Amino acid sequence: MNSHLLALKDFTPSQLQAFLDRALELKKEHRQGKRHQQLAGRTVCLLFEKPSTRTRVSFESAMYGMGGQVIFMSAKETQLGRGEPLKDTARVLARYVDGIVVRTFGQQVVEELAEYSDVPVINALTDMHHPCQILSDIMTVIEKKGRPADLKIVWLGDGNNMANSWVQAASVLGFSLTLACPEGYEPDAGILKEAQERGGGAITVLRDPAEAVAGADVINVDVWASMGQEDEAAKRLDIFRPYQLNAGLLAGAADDAIVLHCLPAHREEEITEEVLEGPQSVAFDQAENKMHMHKAILERMINGAV
Ligand code: CP
Ligand code: NVA
Repeated sequence: MNSHLLALKDFTPSQLQAFLDRALELKKEHRQGKRHQQLAGRTVCLLFEKPSTRTRVSFESAMYGMGGQVIFMSAKETQLGRGEPLKDTARVLARYVDGIVVRTFGQQVVEELAEYSDVPVINALTDMHHPCQILSDIMTVIEKKGRPADLKIVWLGDGNNMANSWVQAASVLGFSLTLACPEGYEPDAGILKEAQERGGGAITVLRDPAEAVAGADVINVDVWASMGQEDEAAKRLDIFRPYQLNAGLLAGAADDAIVLHCLPAHREEEITEEVLEGPQSVAFDQAENKMHMHKAILERMINGAV
């Protein structure tokens, strides 16, 4: 097992599968009322430089639900905000806690923290990746639809952090992924190239949203302007408008297709109220699964179970 969880490409298929299997098992046990203590006596620090509702609370709840403790820090209220180097921060925090869960801007921030930390660093979203989210999204796909390799899975809209992690998941786990993105808003070119060279599942980037959605079993949407891109939001509204998931576009998918949105959603932008609140949306089960997946991630990264 890797010491850190920074990007999905760093894991083998069986390691990613182990996260998925364990999260599904933990969810079942949670439903049965079973109490977990696998992380009793352990503490993680959440170091967040961007806002969060789901990821923060689901990581905190996961840690407490496994018998552990959490210290939350908003990065700007730490000495990092006054220029203390990442390498000093990592070495200090690693002496206090058993894991560091980080939400930040650059992927190089989590990489540098990991380089200097003796305890696991877990990426809770950067501009480049959102690996824990994609693991819980795949868990949701498995629960609702079965094996990803048997499905047409579509990404619609911005080739952002979420899309990059989906691309890596497809290449590691070996399922096909069809993306529809406007020109200039494709997933990161280096990530795409590496994933395509790795083999795994076929990754196809299209322009036409209707072509991508045709016959789809799973459709993923996300905001058009991610955190940190607020200045571009107005321009992006025009560019992404044809990619809105509305009832008309969804009609081209399989009748029993499911719609995933990692939330927060901007209604009437990337998704209509009708679709988000409609019978095919699984967004709230998807949000719940973050907590079960985060339990599996914390347990395996901190206790080293494989
Ligand atoms: N999906 C997700 O990461 O949500 P938050 O930004 O609320 O954590
Ligand atoms: N792509 C979005 C995901 C939010 C959970 C962002 O980075 O803001």
